Amino acid sequence: MHRKVYLKTWGCQMNHYDSDKILNYLKINNHKIVDNYIDSDLIILNTCSIRKKSEYKVFNFLERLRSFKKEKDNLIICICGCLSTQEKEKIFLRNDLIDIVCGPQSIHKLNKLIYKFIKYKKKLIDIKSYKIDKNNINNKIFNYNNIKLNTYVTIIEGCNKFCSYCIVPFTRGKEISRSPEKILDEICYLSNNNVCEINLLGQNVNAYSGIFNNGDLCSFSNLLNLISKINNIKRIRFTTSNPYNFSDDIINAYKNINKIVNYLHLPVQSGSNKILKLMRRKYDIEFYKDLVKRILYVRPNMIFSTDFIVGFPGESEKDFLLTLDLINELKFDHSYIFMYSPRPGTESFYMKDNIDLIEKKRRFREIKYLIDNNIIYWNKKMLNNKYDILVEGFSKKNSKFLFGKTENNRKVYFIGNKNMLGKIISVKINDISNKNYLYGNL
Ligand code: SAH
Ligand code: SF4
Ligand code: F3S
Repeated sequence: MHRKVYLKTWGCQMNHYDSDKILNYLKINNHKIVDNYIDSDLIILNTCSIRKKSEYKVFNFLERLRSFKKEKDNLIICICGCLSTQEKEKIFLRNDLIDIVCGPQSIHKLNKLIYKFIKYKKKLIDIKSYKIDKNNINNKIFNYNNIKLNTYVTIIEGCNKFCSYCIVPFTRGKEISRSPEKILDEICYLSNNNVCEINLLGQNVNAYSGIFNNGDLCSFSNLLNLISKINNIKRIRFTTSNPYNFSDDIINAYKNINKIVNYLHLPVQSGSNKILKLMRRKYDIEFYKDLVKRILYVRPNMIFSTDFIVGFPGESEKDFLLTLDLINELKFDHSYIFMYSPRPGTESFYMKDNIDLIEKKRRFREIKYLIDNNIIYWNKKMLNNKYDILVEGFSKKNSKFLFGKTENNRKVYFIGNKNMLGKIISVKINDISNKNYLYGNL
């Protein structure tokens, strides 16, 4: 009955985190994990549906599996992730190869679904949002796949914001915060297994509101404080923060907890108040800029990255130029740019998608050009200055070189020795000729 499992993941870091949990959960149920689908008899696709393109990728991959499924009649194909909660039962009609559908909040039920399918040979779907925390199932005996120096931990899942364009509140459900004790347990476990940099995950991490076993509330800033007390944890990152929930106590945490990195991903989406309103982002540009200013006040060296959507319905050239102005003003570093994609059931799905693809692509390129310049701007600022690097490993090309990342996510190569692995080392940047990685010396 045990299966050889191949799993493929699309989408955000949370989906990747879920995939780790799925694999570990299947492993402890004695399934074997394989690297190539040709060797498998159970294929799990952990899917994303944030844009139309993400959806296409899944259905294209499924088509590639058609001949394989014909050859191997005991092959089971299972869809997990956001496409399952977006499409629900309809997904069976969109592709006949799918046997099992398992929603993002039901992954701890997957093993049972597999056995049920093998027994009854009937298509199955479970997309319920279980009250119990799926991440906590067998937490302690999870044998993490590839323990690394840095890893993710989900602290809150789901979203109550309902931005007009976004499918996430429909696919991931309402915001559910994990218990602080469970999160701390998981981080202690990871830190005892070499992890020293932790990236806290959530669609809106700063909306975190956990409840301690004794019934007390735990805010995001409380949680940051508790995590910072874990000795082996040297760096704390979190993603994604919504500007709307960025309360003063979180800004204060920047003042008091120096383990939180000087790098913040703070999605703005657009520089135009008209568009932000249509997007239902619940803040305006003045609020956003003031927030950046308040954060810079406690952390003068903070660097910001962000997300943009180009070609939102009604985005005029004037609105677009306001976004370009904002990029020049705030000097956003590495950022994500997305072409607007209407998602079924969202509010903006019913607005006219009036910016054509050529124009969306032009706006995309213009933003990319400015962001690339900003990346160089920040690289130049780094030249001849010292930065702390978390040393991750040896260069594959030249084993004399070690590499690691700065707080602002720059990969830096430098000559060092193996005792430095896993440590934070100060390195002076001396070569920025490549935009994507830098060189330094001790
Ligand atoms: N919760 C985060 C974002 C999570 S989704 C926040 O609100 O800041 C990641 C990014 O995908 C969003 O920031 C947005 O830029 C992009 N995105 C979401 N829906 C989209 C859509 N329908 N079309 C294009 N981009 C989209
Ligand atoms: Fe989507 Fe908005 Fe929620 Fe972010 S805050 S996940 S963009 S609905
Ligand atoms: Fe995609 Fe779902 Fe993440 S839609 S971006 S996998 S929350």
